[in-house]
Amino acid sequence: MTREMETVDPQERFLEFFKKEKYRQKISQMAITGKESITVDFEELFAFDQRLAERLLEKPDEFMQHADNAAYAQLGIEDSEYAEKIEKVTVRIVELLGKEQLRKLGSKQMGKLVMIEGIVVRATPVRPMVMQASFKCKRCGTITRVDQAGSFLRAPFECNDPSCRQKGPFEFVQEESTFIDSQDLRLQERPEDLPPGQLPRTLNVKLVGSEIVDLARPGDHVSIVGMVRAVAPSRPGIGKLRTFILHLETNSLEVLGKEPETTLSSPEEEEKILELAKDPWVHRKIISSIAPSIYGYEHIKEAIMYLLFGGVSKSLPDITIRGEMNALLIGDPGTAKSQLLQYVARIAPRGLYTSGRGTTAAGLTAAVIREKGGSMSLEAGALVLADKGIACIDEMDKMRPEDRVAIHEAMEQHTVSVAKGGIVATLNARTAILAAANPALGRYEPHRTVAENISLPVTILSRFDLIFVLRDVPNKEADEKMTEHILEIHRKGAPPVEAPIGSELMRKYVSYAKTIKPVLSHDALKRLGDFYLAMRSASEAEGSPVAITARQLESLVRIAEARARVALKKEVSAEDAEAAITIMKRSLEEVGIDLSSYKMDIDIIMTGKPKSMRDRMQIIISVLMEMEKVTGIVEKAALLSELDSKHKIPRSETERMIGQLLREGTIYEPREGYLKKT
Ligand SMILES: Nc1ncnc2c1ncn2[C@@H]1O[C@H](COP(=O)(O)OP(=O)(O)OP(=O)(O)O)[C@@H](O)[C@H]1O
Ligand SMILES: [Mg+2]
Ligand SMILES: [Zn+2]
Repeated sequence: MTREMETVDPQERFLEFFKKEKYRQKISQMAITGKESITVDFEELFAFDQRLAERLLEKPDEFMQHADNAAYAQLGIEDSEYAEKIEKVTVRIVELLGKEQLRKLGSKQMGKLVMIEGIVVRATPVRPMVMQASFKCKRCGTITRVDQAGSFLRAPFECNDPSCRQKGPFEFVQEESTFIDSQDLRLQERPEDLPPGQLPRTLNVKLVGSEIVDLARPGDHVSIVGMVRAVAPSRPGIGKLRTFILHLETNSLEVLGKEPETTLSSPEEEEKILELAKDPWVHRKIISSIAPSIYGYEHIKEAIMYLLFGGVSKSLPDITIRGEMNALLIGDPGTAKSQLLQYVARIAPRGLYTSGRGTTAAGLTAAVIREKGGSMSLEAGALVLADKGIACIDEMDKMRPEDRVAIHEAMEQHTVSVAKGGIVATLNARTAILAAANPALGRYEPHRTVAENISLPVTILSRFDLIFVLRDVPNKEADEKMTEHILEIHRKGAPPVEAPIGSELMRKYVSYAKTIKPVLSHDALKRLGDFYLAMRSASEAEGSPVAITARQLESLVRIAEARARVALKKEVSAEDAEAAITIMKRSLEEVGIDLSSYKMDIDIIMTGKPKSMRDRMQIIISVLMEMEKVTGIVEKAALLSELDSKHKIPRSETERMIGQLLREGTIYEPREGYLKKT
């Protein structure tokens, strides 16, 4: 620093700045709100004195001190009484001109003031930190005060009493020490800032002062202005390491809006979006733009479209109903489930791809983590980090037992509650879920029900709006088409058919559409209501326990709303309702429509078997037992014809059920072609 630079006292300059009407007012009102800090917009300081602002960024330790002192001096003028009471004013700088990228932080930024945006993944509880410690001399009882800095408690060098001057022992006196609230956070790069295919980086952040602790919870998106500090970790008995670890010492913290940014960079883009929405084939266009390299699966891509756009959340005075949808893909290995999920995570505003095991210690929901020093902190899992976005959970059947418990709440209430290790918190998880799982037996067994096919409890299954089964069954015609499709991709290195809507535009389209909150038209309402009541009454007549529950009705509404959103419509039409019913039927069919009676039986998801199938199995078993009484063991062929002629159960179906009964171990095959009840 050269001499000329020092001609103007920086503190004087800051004082001039605080004499601006706006800050005088702010400062004079501090007593009313009981605040001990004032917020300064960096841009204003920059406009006032560019050099001063720049030097504040370069040498924050020195210049923040000047700023604080100046603000305090001004407080002395405005309100001397309050100034005496609080002893110090902290200046908090917000909105630097540019933000620093978390992953680019390095030695260049050490000691500088920077602004960083990120998502809070971990937070300790608020803890008191000693600012001035009082020590009592054990010899004479005199109190010696020591101002504290650094991470360890420092004892006095010697007793303050001139006649004692002993170098200890001392006793820490808590009541006479002063404390300040502190908290540690861990900040992670936001999913939207992440370069494709990179793992997110994290940064530790220290907060000191009751005005900035406890503002942000795990899952919150924040903007932090702070000093970049570096500390050398020490190894006991060896010394300090030469490589330092960076952290941020917070000057100001702002919690950012939760909605993913809708950055429509140009009016042309909006033009394009509105143009697209007018297209009567917009739904088809969007479906064929979803993962164009994946062959087939039209209905699944349609479901993904609904999931991307989502329904409308309703906040009533007493309850809230989620608008976000959940969909599950159960499928044989190699059926492109992971590919679909990864595609969605890329395309969705705030999309996140994770495996059921989770990529962090917090897994899918949240966890209380014991840090190295022994302190506890709360870490957000995937569903919390994807708040207001879409979480794509691959291999969901392999999730951790803790998540299995917590995910119920996350999927329906959209919160994650934690009460462990002294930490009690409820975090938001307003997340749409697209999950994939493999069948429990390796391959999907069509005779078995969804519940039997997947190792997930029915209570979780029933929280999915849509469930689809992806089966890998050889089929000459389909195989030929798909082979051609896949080979074409490999030849060209591009999808055989180009997506009508590119992924960049698609993401913007989704963000744009999400601002629309369509309401059900009278026609749509009637259509959905009729369908639901028809399903309900059908099951009533049959005495079947539950055919379809209120959950499915809510799902139908969500799907219909999402479909209206796709076309940027403010009203849900009868056509939207119809489409919702069609895809819901398809999903119900895949998981267990009762084909023989053509009645839905949601019971299958709950108990694992459709009612008519249970009835028929019962018949097969009783006929088998009747026949056993005569012949001991029963010839399979005889059983088939008996059931066919007397009970009108087709041979093919009996075969299937026998197969299942054999696997279940209800019956067994003592000899090839013969059966017996166990
Ligand atoms: N319908 C399809 N169209 C194009 N490619 C496909 C299709 N089905 C499978 N593939 C290809 O097969 C490969 C395997 O897909 P993927 O890894 O997504 O399977 P998966 O369903 O996740 O399997 P697993 O259950 O074993 O995890 C991918 O390279 C994918 O592109
Ligand atoms: Mg996979
Ligand atoms: Zn002493």
